[in-house]
Parts: sequence; C-alpha cells; structure tokens
Amino acid sequence: MLGEAAAPLGIDLLVSDPTPDAPAAPVARDQVVGAFDDEATIRELGERADVLTFEIELADPDALERVREETGTPVHPHPETLRTIQDKLVQKRRLQDAGVPVPEFRAVDSADDLGAALDDLGYPAMLKAREGGYDGRGNVPVENPADVESAFAAIDGPAMVEAFVDFERELAVMGCLGDGEVDTFPVTETIHEEEILRRTVSPARAPPAVSERAREVARDVLDVMEGRGVYGIELFETSDGDILLNEIAPRPHNSGHWTVEGCHTSQFEQHLRAVTGLPLGTTERRCPTASANLLGDVDERQKARLHGVEELLERDRSALHWYGKREVYRLRKMGHVTLPGDGDADPGALVRSVREAVRPLTFRN
Ligand SMILES: Nc1ncnc2c1ncn2[C@@H]1O[C@H](COP(=O)(O)OP(=O)(O)OP(=O)(O)O)[C@@H](O)[C@H]1O
Ligand SMILES: [Mg+2]
Repeated sequence: MLGEAAAPLGIDLLVSDPTPDAPAAPVARDQVVGAFDDEATIRELGERADVLTFEIELADPDALERVREETGTPVHPHPETLRTIQDKLVQKRRLQDAGVPVPEFRAVDSADDLGAALDDLGYPAMLKAREGGYDGRGNVPVENPADVESAFAAIDGPAMVEAFVDFERELAVMGCLGDGEVDTFPVTETIHEEEILRRTVSPARAPPAVSERAREVARDVLDVMEGRGVYGIELFETSDGDILLNEIAPRPHNSGHWTVEGCHTSQFEQHLRAVTGLPLGTTERRCPTASANLLGDVDERQKARLHGVEELLERDRSALHWYGKREVYRLRKMGHVTLPGDGDADPGALVRSVREAVRPLTFRN
C-alpha cells in the first residue's frame, strides 16, 4: 500500500522481501529478494535509495544502524526506536518512564516469577512474549493460579505480564512525525476477536472528551519516538473513560488502513511524506469510514482463491484491498474492505454494514 501511494508523489519505491515476486512487487519500482534482517540486502537498499524505512518490526535495528553509517543513507523511524518497540517490556518501561499511562505490568522469566507477579497484580492477566508476537500470537491469557504453569510453558522465554484491562473499547491513533511537524489522525475504534483486529470505525463511538484524551496520549507517545514516519498507537479506553497505552507499531498500521478512503491524506502517503522530508498532508477525515479485515477461513494452508468478490463489488462504495498473498491459512490477514459513509453516517450502522459486506467472501471451496 506504500507502493500505491508512492507513484503519485513521484517517489520510486524499492522493496525488500524474502518472497520473490512479493505482494509489493507489482506496485514497486524494483525488489531485492532477501530476509528482512539480512544485512547484505539492507546494504544494497542503502546504496541504491535516498532514504530507508521499514513496515515490519522484523527489520534488524543493528543492521540498519550499520548500513546508515556505511552508506550515509538516513533511516526513518530511528533504528533505536525500532529496538525499543521490538521488546514489549522495554517499550512499556520507556513509555511509563515518560509518563504515558499504561496497564500495570511485571517482567517474568519463569513460571515462579509469573505466579509471584500475579499474587500482586491479580487475575485475570495477559502474559506476553517480549519479542516476536503479532496478531495475538505470543499472548496468553492467564485466568487463575491453575493456569500459571501452562501459560508460561506456552511462551517459554522472556516475557511480561500485564493486568487484564476490562476495557470499554479499544482505540487507535495514527500519529505522524514529519520534518519539524507533529500530527495525529482522527481516533479509530478497533474491534478485535481472538486478539486479532477484525473491524475498525472512525469516528470511534467514544465520548468526545475520551477521543480528545486519546489524541493527547498519542502526542505524548510521539514525544518519545525518534525519527520521522507514521506510528500506529493502540489504546484501551477503560470503563472510567481513562486511556491506557497498549502498544505501538513504528509504521503504518492495520488500524489506519481506512484512511485510504476515509481521509484526505492516507497513512501511507503520510508515511512517505514524513520519511522523505516532504510537508505532511492534512489528517482531516473525509467521512465516517469503517473497515473489515479478510482473514483466512481455511483449516489447512493452501493456495489463496477468494470467492464472493462480485457480490461484494455490487455493493456501492465497498472498496476491496487485496494484498496479493499467494497462500492462505487460518486467520492470515489477506486483505481488507473499506466502507466510507455519508457525512452524517452512524458509526455503529457503518461497522455493521461493512461486516455484512464481507460476509460472502471466503477462501473455502
Ligand atoms: N492487558 C490486556 N488486557 C485486555 N486485553 C488485552 C491486553 N493486552 C492485549 N489484549 C487484547 O489482545 C489484543 C492483542 O494484544 P497485543 O496488541 O498485545 O498483541 P499483538 O499480537 O502484538 O497485536 P497486533 O500485532 O495484532 O497489534 C489487544 O488488541 C487486546 O484486544
Ligand atoms: Mg496489538
């Protein structure tokens, strides 16, 4: 999606991806085939490009730093920020130290640590692998003391445990750091099931003061971030209307995909403007907008064939974004659908409509 946004800006995008003919290849100028943390690949990018950025946390901050020094090519966001974010414990500590409100958490390196931490924090809680988790993989809910051993065994490595937040809603704010500019997109409500993002709607159905507070917390988060770019900031709205930070992604984020249709500047265009040092675009919303993810609904890994597209496209305004991944497996993110509404559209109705719109879509034969 960065590639789709690059061409109109006159930016040539050079991508690296381990898969030949990767999903981004059709919309990029060229692809270097190589692992996300392969230093030779990153060096080739650094030698050929004017600026380096990443849209996956698997990028290697050490390699990025060395390539920046060797080639003089700037890297945005700053590799140090990537390093901080890669480790959920380091990330939370850094933000807590900066005064950003976060759920209570403890470092845990063994089942005994976990038991002791939960004597203190109480049950239920969320155990999280410090590194490498995404889409809920690497997270294990701990309901009661009997779960402690098996929960830790499921992670079996450096972890953190967090008090379970009985949230009213989940919210997200896409923040952007430009060349001396700071801005935030309108607040998005995010709906997760089985810890995976399913749908979004903006405006969020939160009281205005809560949305205002969410943008304020997002700005405080941006103060801690180094380097230009778009940052996905995931938040909890508690039952008291407080905002707590869940986590940050140092890149355009799934909860901001709706901005392609829903805002005057998409998060992808904004990221490109930011990392290349162009002026940021307005973050103003065009209209209330909902989105729904297309997740793999098959049991076995198989060649991806999406059925039901015609039925979807018969619906006015429904916009399909197919990511071009060749294989599908259960709960893999394969694409999304966006539904922009009228200026006075009700967010609740819009999110119900987008859910209805994606119902015919399936990978099952
Ligand atoms: N402390 C918590 N209390 C309640 N629910 C939580 C907590 N932490 C995480 N969750 C739930 O699990 C979801 C995924 O958690 P988290 O964002 O930590 O995982 P992730 O795998 O890194 O996510 P992703 O890659 O999808 O953003 C959250 O969006 C939320 O629904
Ligand atoms: Mg998350």
